[in-house]
Amino acid sequence: MSTTDVEELKGKLVLVTGGGRGIGRSIALAFAAQGSRVVITGRNQATLDDVAYEIRHLGAKAKALPLPCDITRKQEVESLNREVTRRLGAVQILVNNAGIAPAVSFLEMDDRLWEEVLKVNLTGTYYCCKVFLPGMIATGWGRVINIASTVAKVAYSHISAYTTSKHAVLGLTRALALEMARTGVTVNAICPGYVDTELTLNNVRLMAEKTGKRVEEILKLFKGTSPQNRLIAPEEVADVAVMLSSKAADGMTGQAINVDGGAVMV
Ligand SMILES: NC(=O)c1ccc[n+]([C@@H]2O[C@H](COP(=O)([O-])OP(=O)(O)OC[C@H]3O[C@@H](n4cnc5c(N)ncnc54)[C@H](OP(=O)(O)O)[C@@H]3O)[C@@H](O)[C@H]2O)c1
Repeated sequence: MSTTDVEELKGKLVLVTGGGRGIGRSIALAFAAQGSRVVITGRNQATLDDVAYEIRHLGAKAKALPLPCDITRKQEVESLNREVTRRLGAVQILVNNAGIAPAVSFLEMDDRLWEEVLKVNLTGTYYCCKVFLPGMIATGWGRVINIASTVAKVAYSHISAYTTSKHAVLGLTRALALEMARTGVTVNAICPGYVDTELTLNNVRLMAEKTGKRVEEILKLFKGTSPQNRLIAPEEVADVAVMLSSKAADGMTGQAINVDGGAVMV
């Protein structure tokens, strides 16, 4: 977790989608450690409650509000906005983190899977931007941070829907950054490589099953794609989200920052 204090994040209202586990959980904890108020959302109330509990135990000032929302349903995103605004005010930092990454070959992929991936990763991100941006614009300050992936810039086999969705998220990031440039709102993407979360481990297990190799062997392959020969810790992604929300990043918008141990250099 970040050791640097970012004074201006104290009291800021942050919303993290997919905040109940993995990278989203780490992002929620990192902002809470800065004294921000954090709304954690996702579909599973129990995991959201667990993270809120962890946050409240960080210290007396750490505030967390766990609210369920399926980001593929615009009405749920709109009612989330109404609820948050009523209880805490307008969201100032939106972290679009919720995402799915099922692995399957293009020809075997069911049409419904394609639609689901685009709906969560792209349309869900779009809905959240559409619903939460006006509150930021109204106050003349805001941050949108989209958790994309290195596959927003390059392609890997057997994740065509995921790759397509993340390329599109990067396109949306850049287009929005331009439209928001004079409003005080910045829009950036973080592009992690393989991160040590359930999402990665599920794909490692699946690949092990399909190839008949051991899980440890596949994990070694995943690590080996990074010049640093390791998985990224979720906290490393969280630290970059905090940095992008700081005053130091006022001039950064439309950027896509890789956190991948040097695997992708574009
Ligand atoms: N792990 C990696 O190697 C890696 C690398 C690059 C980028 N990323 C990106 O980082 C983000 C987080 O990944 P992760 O590894 O932390 O994955 P994870 O552990 O599987 O967590 C995904 C989160 O998304 C939420 N979610 C999924 N569908 C949702 C929906 N329809 N509405 C609301 N929330 C939803 C899940 O919560 P519920 O199931 O409770 O709804 C969960 O909290 C994703 O966008 C992923 O593409 C991950």
